[in-house]
Formats: sequence, C-alpha cells, structure tokens
Amino acid sequence: MAEEETSKKNKAKNTDQRDNRNNNNNKVVEVKARGKQEQAEAKNKRKRKDFFPFGNYRNYYGYRIGNDLEEDPRLRVLKKEWFQDKDCLDIGCNSGIFTIQIAKKLHCSSILGIDIDSSRIEDAHWHLRKSVRMDNSKKKSAKTSELEVAKRENDSDPNSALLIEEILENSSDCCPSRKRDLFDIVSFQQENFVKSQLPPGKHYDTILCLSVTKWIQLNWGDDGLIALFTKIWTLLRPGGILVLEPQPWKSYENNHRVSETTAMNYRNIKHRPVDFQEILLDKIGFRTVEDLTWGLSGSTAGFNRPIFAFCK
Ligand SMILES: C[S@@+](CC[C@H](N)C(=O)[O-])C[C@H]1O[C@@H](n2cnc3c(N)ncnc32)[C@H](O)[C@@H]1O
Repeated sequence: MAEEETSKKNKAKNTDQRDNRNNNNNKVVEVKARGKQEQAEAKNKRKRKDFFPFGNYRNYYGYRIGNDLEEDPRLRVLKKEWFQDKDCLDIGCNSGIFTIQIAKKLHCSSILGIDIDSSRIEDAHWHLRKSVRMDNSKKKSAKTSELEVAKRENDSDPNSALLIEEILENSSDCCPSRKRDLFDIVSFQQENFVKSQLPPGKHYDTILCLSVTKWIQLNWGDDGLIALFTKIWTLLRPGGILVLEPQPWKSYENNHRVSETTAMNYRNIKHRPVDFQEILLDKIGFRTVEDLTWGLSGSTAGFNRPIFAFCK
C-alpha cells in the first residue's frame, strides 16, 4: 500500500517536472522570438532613419573631407573677391561646416545657409556655436599671453604701460561693436529652395550651389532644376556669381531608387549635367562662365567633381 502511494507520488512529481521543462522550453522559444523581432524592428528603424532622399546625409563631411584633409579642397578655388565683404547664400548647406569655413576664411559680410532638412540645420547651428566658442577661447589665450609678455617687460621699458593699455583697448570684450562676431555673419535656415517664395527685395552677391542639382532633379525633375536656376538668377545682383558644382550623370544611377518619386523623375530627366552650361548661359541669361575645376586636387575619391563660376 505504502509502495503504491510512493509510486503515485513519483509519477505526479515526474509529470510536474516534465510540465516545468516544457514551460521553460516554451519561454526560451518565446524570448528568442521576441529578441529576433526586436532586432528586426531596430534594423527597420535604422533603415528608416538612414533614409536620405535629398542627399541630406548625416555626417556628410565625415566622408567627403575625411580625416586626412585639413580643409575642404574646394576652398582653394573660391576667389576672395567673390566673398570678401559680400552677401552670400549657400543652397543645400547640409550641416554648415563648409558655409562656416567660407565665412571665416573668405570674410563674407554675411552668409546664409539653407537646407531642406531641419535636422541638418540643427547640426549647422551646433557647429556655429562650437566654432564661436573655439574662436573666443583662442582669442582669450592669445590676449592673456600678450598681456603676460607686456607685464614682464613693464619694469624695464617705460613704454610697456602704454602697450598694456593698447592690448586692453583692442580686446573685443571691451569694445563689442568694433569686431563682428561669427554669429552676426553666419545664419542658417530650413527651407526648400525649389518651392519657397522669393523674399522681396533680398539680393546676394554670390550664391553657392554645391552637389545639390542631382537631388533637385531626382525630387522635382527638370522643372525643379529650371526653377532653381531661375531663382538663383533673380536673387543675384548684376555682376553676381553663381558657384555651381553639379554631380555627374553617372552618379544619378546610384541614387535614383531612393524613393518612387526619384525613380519616376530619373526616367524623365532630359537636362543632363553636360547641358547645364548651355541652359545657364543661353536660357537663364548668365553672361560668362569660368571653369574652376583645374584648381581642385586632393579631393576624396568620388568627389572630384567639376566646379564652375557663372557671372550674371
Ligand atoms: C550632398 S549635400 C551637399 C552639401 C553641401 N552643399 C556641400 O557640397 O558641401 C546636398 C544637400 O542639399 C540639400 N537639399 C536638397 N534639396 C534641397 C532643396 N530643395 N532645398 C534646400 N536644400 C536641399 C540636402 O538636404 C543636402 O544637405
């Protein structure tokens, strides 16, 4: 009797253990399935995030300039007289790094960078703040060392008191109106250049349109391209300059599948980049063109594109 009881208990225990094992196995399968689903969702999310239908790449300059180049090689072909004390516009400025470099190196009176992507404009504002901060701390440490030298010479040279006074007077902190901050020169704005209204009465001396034409044609077709060129011409002052860097036709092939719109527009494009000079000179009304490409060297592979300057 006692034996029968024990055997019953053992059977029940074995059944419980089997059930537990099955439950655990089911849980493992469930966890694995959930893990896979989460991975797939994360991948899709990444894919969705990495969708750049306008060439609005994050970290564009990371691979365009690379780590081995100090500055963008395109800076070398831009003539100072087109920028110094001039009002400039940079269409499709991305994260603003090149716009800021132009402002600093070529001393624009003003430069406005516009981009269709508000995230890139946020990046541009961040780069501008960083650049101003770095400039200010460089200026501060230069001033401090100048003052230290002057103070050390103070005992021996009676004129050095005057020098200290001069350094303090020239300091931008004491006379903010004398020196213009980068914030007064550079600004950024989110805008679709093809679709936005022309600001009444606003004109520029120089307009940059670098590596943007492909994205305009893929998204808004030939009509978008003509709207872009016409708007640029209207916004330029007489004698003003358009600096244009068109992407070559063969590169359209790489990006035309980015959306249904781009695929459709790609099939209907008639104005190829080799035709742009003729369109700008004969149809839009620019007077002259200068090929700046010869001055470019050391561009990262895939970015050795032609650059032209058209004069209104
Ligand atoms: C490939 S990036 C070139 C960036 C920069 N111009 C350069 O060459 O260093 C093209 C930029 O044009 C912008 N873009 C494309 N279509 C635009 C439009 N309709 N209006 C304003 N920006 C546009 C994109 O968001 C992207 O940041």
